Amino acid sequence: MSGETPTDSTERHVGLIGYGAAGRACAALLLADPRYRLTVLTRSPPGEPLPDRLSVVASLDVLIAACPRIIVEAASAEAFASLVPACLRAGIDVVAASIGALQSQETGDAVVAACREGHSRLVLPSGAVGGLDYIAAAALAGDIAVTYTSRKPPAAWTAELTEAGLAEAARSEPVTLFEGSAPEAAKLYPRNLNAGLTVALAAGIDRTRVRVVADPSVSTNTHEIEVTGAAGDAYLRFANKPSPDNPKTSMITALSLASAVQKRLDPMQ
Ligand SMILES: NC(=O)c1ccc[n+]([C@@H]2O[C@H](COP(=O)([O-])OP(=O)(O)OC[C@H]3O[C@@H](n4cnc5c(N)ncnc54)[C@H](O)[C@@H]3O)[C@@H](O)[C@H]2O)c1
Repeated sequence: MSGETPTDSTERHVGLIGYGAAGRACAALLLADPRYRLTVLTRSPPGEPLPDRLSVVASLDVLIAACPRIIVEAASAEAFASLVPACLRAGIDVVAASIGALQSQETGDAVVAACREGHSRLVLPSGAVGGLDYIAAAALAGDIAVTYTSRKPPAAWTAELTEAGLAEAARSEPVTLFEGSAPEAAKLYPRNLNAGLTVALAAGIDRTRVRVVADPSVSTNTHEIEVTGAAGDAYLRFANKPSPDNPKTSMITALSLASAVQKRLDPMQ
């Protein structure tokens, strides 16, 4: 091979389900590359003018009929359960943000059956965390034990802390709101515990404990992963910054979705 970077000018047509905080940011990242065009499924037309090379559709059938090479789901656990299997059955790979939806056995079974039927794959992006390659590899060496801890400022859990009578305590010390399995956590907090299930799917559900902590010492959403096993021990900590355009979402989520799409479409991974 010569010293030049190989070029690939093929058009890349990507579908997107959900045009909220993560979806918009992912779309902007992909569209920065002129090879990309997007077809977006939204529940209502966006209020603002749409970027070039982005069109909007109102039904899943129209999205699938447009034949994108890959679809990004960035909507919700409910949208994942009701829409993603049909995309996979149609033979289109899906990069899904709402991984917490897989806490439901029924949804997991529907995804596996749809992948078989469509010869397609569900891609689980690293999302708010990383190190999943290490965790999955370490799990092959035999028993590993993984603890995933979500630490957020108490303001992120105001309703839950108030309901538990712990709002005052959480002003001065960390308060553990939940400790248990990743599927339980994702069921209880469907919008917040995608990362716990992502880690558990890499390590094994039975080998992963999840903790949810309201912690006054952190100012940003923080994820900690502790791994012990035959291959060694690891401690990973991710302190995510909010997206500059939308403080409701972590910047890394959209970056992870866009990076997963690029990896799937790039000739070299
Ligand atoms: N994997 C991770 O680490 C990770 C991190 C952050 C967020 N998430 C998940 O990503 C998803 C998107 O997050 P967000 O912050 O962008 O949420 P958001 O609420 O800002 O945006 C979601 C958008 O999807 C739309 N939507 C919902 N159902 C739809 C449907 N059936 N068809 C079309 N559009 C639909 C909503 O109207 C909204 O515009 C959520 O499920 C969230 O839990 C995952």
